[in-house]
Amino acid sequence: MKILVIGSGGREHALVWKLAQSPRVTKLFCAPGNAGISQHATCVPIAADDLPGLQKFAVSERIDLTVVGPEVPLALGIADLFRKNKLKVFGPTKNAARIESSKAFAKDLMLRQKIPTAASRTFEQASAAIHYLETQPVPIVVKADGLAQGKGVVVAQSHEEAREAVLNMLEQHAFGAAGQRVIIEECIQGEEVTLMAFADGKTVKPMLAAQDHKRIGAGDTGPNTGGMGAYAPAPLATPALRYTLMREVLYPAIEGLARVGSPFFGVIYAGVMVRDGVPYVLEFNARFGDPETQVVLPLLKTDLVDVLEAVVEHRLDQLDIEWSEDAAVCVVMSSGGYPGKYSTGVPISGIPDIGSSDSSMVFHAGTAWNGEQIVTSGGRVLGVTAVSPNLAKAKSQAYESLEGIRFDGQYYRNDIANRVL
Ligand code: AMP
Ligand code: GLY
Repeated sequence: MKILVIGSGGREHALVWKLAQSPRVTKLFCAPGNAGISQHATCVPIAADDLPGLQKFAVSERIDLTVVGPEVPLALGIADLFRKNKLKVFGPTKNAARIESSKAFAKDLMLRQKIPTAASRTFEQASAAIHYLETQPVPIVVKADGLAQGKGVVVAQSHEEAREAVLNMLEQHAFGAAGQRVIIEECIQGEEVTLMAFADGKTVKPMLAAQDHKRIGAGDTGPNTGGMGAYAPAPLATPALRYTLMREVLYPAIEGLARVGSPFFGVIYAGVMVRDGVPYVLEFNARFGDPETQVVLPLLKTDLVDVLEAVVEHRLDQLDIEWSEDAAVCVVMSSGGYPGKYSTGVPISGIPDIGSSDSSMVFHAGTAWNGEQIVTSGGRVLGVTAVSPNLAKAKSQAYESLEGIRFDGQYYRNDIANRVL
């Protein structure tokens, strides 16, 4: 099979790395890819949101399956466009992807399907939003409705801060169209867990649960980022909790989408807060998580091509998906200054190549070639994953592996997986 992966981050590197191990794959492409991805796939310089360009490429190369990494092309309707042109694509339609691209849509779905989530209200007028939030206790959460690269959520500690967030979104248009509606939500204090699942419109098969580390600073301090590290499996997701999440969250979501004529094919991602053992959904995503994918896929034993194909061909019920008993930890190395301003083009030394059977792998997130030299090209630069029989070993191995890697301004959290160790 000829496979095209769309995207250029650590998640896409993990996808490409895993697909490259499949005996069924004869040729792998990635658009646009990055320096690390070019080790396993031919990178083609087409942007992830250039839908006509991607379609043209898939047709001319006779791509058998396209796997969409990021949310933006899904929200733009890449799956609809590809299907219309008889191209097989792994990822939900634009309408189904609204579970991620509109938090108000996701909230309505959850309400209709009785999916446990934080109480919330949606507003388009700043005055009404502010009036409402002043009747609510703090901390309180203000969210932009649309896609904002994980930066559209403010957990406000005071009414003042919440008011500012509302004005910033609705009046200053800080997130453009994505912030034309805001959701004001009850703050739930607890432990977060990610459960991703494959879904083919009817059947849902869960992956291993993972935990992301969203804040920039050790001890979960400082601003939110795209994710500074992850581990899997997350012991917080006991078999009982996983069962509850399947029965009360993932199946109702998939059924609710099918009922409104938007069946969901792809990966459904539930970001959940667990308080006193009870789960509340904070967000749905319509794709693989980043950096969760960098710890979950290395633990997948079944051929990923078989899984993706079963989803696309709506026969997931006939497939058993097998997982390793090991644990994985991923530590993200970022550019100094991230998630604020940072420089790019900084030379990186000491990155080992990944072999398919290695137990440590360096997934590239924001890297590019500058001649013969690999340089930084983004805020999150590398994700160093280690797989080991237990989490403690995986953690120490991940930190050992990143010791040889150097670039000016490099930063990483030193406490990934500490919450369970
Ligand atoms: P989201 O993009 O909706 O997952 O929000 C980003 C992050 O903000 C989450 O991972 C949580 O850490 C935090 N967050 C979002 N909603 C809530 C909430 N209702 N209560 C507490 N924290 C939240
Ligand atoms: N890890 C958070 C996300 O993928 O949205």
